[in-house]
Amino acid sequence: PRKIILDCDPGHDDAIAMLLAHGSPAIELLAITTVAGNQTLEKVTRNALAVAELAGIHVPIAAGCPRPLVREIEVAPSIHGDSGMDGPQLPEPRRQLDPRHAVDLIIELIMQHPPGEITLVPTGALSNIALAVRKEPRIASRVREVVLMGGGYHTGNWSAVAEFNIKIDPEAAHIVFNTPWPLTMVGLDLTHQALATPEVQARIAALQTAPARFVQELLAFFGETYLREQGFASPPVHDPCAVAYVIDSQVMTVRKAQLDVELHGTLTLGMTVADFRAPPPADCHTQVAVQLDHNYFWQMIIDALQHIAAK
Ligand code: BDR
Ligand code: CA
Repeated sequence: PRKIILDCDPGHDDAIAMLLAHGSPAIELLAITTVAGNQTLEKVTRNALAVAELAGIHVPIAAGCPRPLVREIEVAPSIHGDSGMDGPQLPEPRRQLDPRHAVDLIIELIMQHPPGEITLVPTGALSNIALAVRKEPRIASRVREVVLMGGGYHTGNWSAVAEFNIKIDPEAAHIVFNTPWPLTMVGLDLTHQALATPEVQARIAALQTAPARFVQELLAFFGETYLREQGFASPPVHDPCAVAYVIDSQVMTVRKAQLDVELHGTLTLGMTVADFRAPPPADCHTQVAVQLDHNYFWQMIIDALQHIAAK
């Protein structure tokens, strides 16, 4: 299985990413780290612990950056509610948070493993990942790849051209995109295809297990806010798309493109700028996700939920 560290800010779709990573035999989840984003660090960390409790995830969970590197903290209660994961009833988390800072846990794990083994899967702001590579630059050549949910080459959701995870900490994103590790951007262009349609939600409901009911409740709340705030008839389930790519890259098509993050634009702050001019430069280490196999993606989620219930 592929070893990953999931760096997240649960978050409805982050929670589903946790379940997919935990429930897929193709993934070995080494640790979960949290970062301020959808809500404050305290709230998203509590949510991560509660999801771990519910799903029986026994890996270290460590809290990281309480705010972006440069800018003031910006949270998203309009989409994720006051708790960061409104909707489902959460179990009281009993497990302990790992005492290490997320940045140190990330560095330790990568330095302890042979080069090329660990894939970083960030599904929140990139504050932890940026700090980790600044604190220990050797991790850049030791991670296998970075597969992140964030950005978009043709669309935004936190401005006309910028996506939330990148927009709230653009300086961190700039560091991560300009570090020469292999990087796949699973952005909005892809994740807006990962819609939890009524048909998908019915398939999940039919599982009738505790983790499936939890996902149903997440999707019910997420569906309402996405309809109200962004006009989506069915909610796009962003974060598990990055995990799905690690499970089997065939679940989506990708295209090589030089990527960078806009830090100075007045209208374009936090835009992920993709250069599709051919040919890409020889040292191009970045690619973008383009087209999702919707059926295969949701089958992965359903398989993972079944796996968790059977564990
Ligand atoms: C991203 O922003 C967050 O609200 C979601 O969890 C996802 O990671 C989508 O723009
Ligand atoms: Ca997220």
